[in-house]
Amino acid sequence: MFKDSFKYYKSRNPFPDLKNVIDIDSTDYTKVRPIEDFLLKYENRYDLGLRPTKDWKIYELKCNLGLIFIQNPFTAEGQQYWITKCLKDYPKKPNKLNLDEHKLLNDNTSWWEECFKNSDGNVSLLTKLRWTTLGYHHDWNTKHYSENSKSILPSELCNLTTFLANVLNYTGFNAEAIIINYYRMNSTLAGHTDHSEVNIEAPLFSISFGQNAIFLIGGLTQEEPATPIYLRSGDIVVMSKTSRHCYHGIPKILPTLVKPWMSNDSMQNKLHSEVDSEDWSIASNYISEARININVRQVLKPGQIRLL
Ligand code: OGA
Ligand code: MN
Repeated sequence: MFKDSFKYYKSRNPFPDLKNVIDIDSTDYTKVRPIEDFLLKYENRYDLGLRPTKDWKIYELKCNLGLIFIQNPFTAEGQQYWITKCLKDYPKKPNKLNLDEHKLLNDNTSWWEECFKNSDGNVSLLTKLRWTTLGYHHDWNTKHYSENSKSILPSELCNLTTFLANVLNYTGFNAEAIIINYYRMNSTLAGHTDHSEVNIEAPLFSISFGQNAIFLIGGLTQEEPATPIYLRSGDIVVMSKTSRHCYHGIPKILPTLVKPWMSNDSMQNKLHSEVDSEDWSIASNYISEARININVRQVLKPGQIRLL
């Protein structure tokens, strides 16, 4: 059962045995199959922080068809760019934050400004950021989207997911609702399915940065067993077809030894908009004890222009 696996991997004492966690780095082809079809025809998008698609490694989980795994396709500089965006820009108004409800931030300041630019240095606020929503705002209580509650999506995030969708041959994907999840080392995300979108057939893109996670993917009901997979910084999970409807969650965050955001492999492939070094020093400090997940959904059906 999903709940049993979740409890097992969540436990700190005793610490779980991790030998059954699928590790894409070890390329064990008994549980995943590589997808090599269509990768050569796309241009290089260094401007999106990506390595050339010919170098990408893409897998499908054998036990969850439609669960696609792209092993970190980002350059180190790309990781720095997206991590900094998720911290400095995306938690700004008019986007919504978990902190809004508790009125923990004044209207005239942002989480980033308040945590890192204010001379008082608000440390307690730093660990309290859990999510921010962009585009159609996911209402966590009603689980509904509404035409009355949406902000404009940043074009670079739309361009990134449109490109990913094209590489994977999904036609007509539109990013319309984005949740950015922020995890501390002791955070978890309980098992759930994402079914608030009118268009439940469109794939969902889930991009991870920072510390490692164990991702559990189960079946269509809570009763089915769940498969654990390591997610590392830069890894992208695409939930398409059957897997789009499956239970999933994050029972554990694990410290990462390898830091793909640190290496210098892309110095000659500059992003169009570079990351300010002072901003990156703040962001790299944050990410040393945190994980960020960018969860991108299409909400509307093809041809639909608004919610009812
Ligand atoms: C979600 C989700 C998974 C993750 O936001 O709905 O499932 O990897 N996130 O954080
Ligand atoms: Mn989810």
